[in-house]
Amino acid sequence: MAKSFSLSLYPWVYKAQHQPDGSWQEAFEAKVHLAPEAEATLPHEARMALLARRNSFPDLPLVNYSTQYGFSVFEGLKAFPQKDGSLKLFRPEENARRMRRSMEGLKMPGFPEELFVRAVKEVVRRNKELGFYPRYNPEWEKDGFLSGHAVYVRPFSYTEPGIGLDLSHHPWVVIITTPVGPYFEGPNNKAVTTDRIRATPKGTGWIKCSANYVIPTLVKKEANEQGYMEAIFLDAREQRYVEEGSSCNIFFYLKNGTLVTPELGDTILPGITRKSVLALAAHVGIPTEERKISIDEVLSEAKEVFVTGTAAGISYIESITHKGKTVVFNNGKMGEVTRTLLLTLKGIQYGAKEDPFGWMIPVE
Ligand SMILES: Cc1ncc(COP(=O)(O)O)c(C=O)c1O
Repeated sequence: MAKSFSLSLYPWVYKAQHQPDGSWQEAFEAKVHLAPEAEATLPHEARMALLARRNSFPDLPLVNYSTQYGFSVFEGLKAFPQKDGSLKLFRPEENARRMRRSMEGLKMPGFPEELFVRAVKEVVRRNKELGFYPRYNPEWEKDGFLSGHAVYVRPFSYTEPGIGLDLSHHPWVVIITTPVGPYFEGPNNKAVTTDRIRATPKGTGWIKCSANYVIPTLVKKEANEQGYMEAIFLDAREQRYVEEGSSCNIFFYLKNGTLVTPELGDTILPGITRKSVLALAAHVGIPTEERKISIDEVLSEAKEVFVTGTAAGISYIESITHKGKTVVFNNGKMGEVTRTLLLTLKGIQYGAKEDPFGWMIPVE
């Protein structure tokens, strides 16, 4: 079964390479596989060996600008099992747009959005046809789909061979998929601020590029070792304004009844869940603000805190520790506004609630 976020590649993958004439040469490839039921009964080592073969791309160059210098961008989106047995993607056109902008941000040719959406749908559809997809489970309805599983889709760029510092003119775009279960498990929802810097003004913080994940990964591990679930980054200049989590955006429901999230700029990733939560909150009549918010204001004025992201969905934060002082929100429990937004978002994604925005896109 799908672990929270482990890698177990489904067989069908997609590859496209930018050509000198500006077109993209596309290919779908079915990697080595058995029937899903047969794979599930393999001894652990045999299954790992099979998965390792699926994760081998011998026609892609090992030494290139991605592996040497971090010249790589990626996306993450999910296809959700529906009650009628189908799969639906959540806002794939938003990921398509961000991927194109990320690639252009690293001065690569941007992958066309229409190709992105078509390829993502087709990879998910082909894997489903082979039986590789999580089946809808009515048990998930009992906890509002917090325990729901999904297909995680990971498109990423990969550059042509090269050893000197250079830009990528003819990158590949690869799309792989893997099953995922609930992201944050267990009772710990504590967060801690860090004085390490994720992104600097005029840097790449707004781009979903691999290089941006080095510091957050180190910081998250350090936070975990100290007993926290998540780390919160502050702005580089003053270490005063909240920016985001290690791989998620952040929201504060203030005592005055306003839902605030840090405004976008060049140091914050424009999250698709963030954008969706802003729309949902407005839809249910909660006033929202995108603005700078200081850690001091958060600690004195926030009633509820939660983080958002494709992997996390909406996860409440029970407390924030800043410079050794801990403030607990809503007695350490998930607050009502957080719960409403969470249940609405999950309900839309799993088809149990109306989708007034037309966010869910069938793969077939
Ligand atoms: C740094 C960072 N911020 C925010 C997000 C949330 O973005 P989204 O909601 O599009 O998944 C992510 C997740 O991909 C992330 O890596």
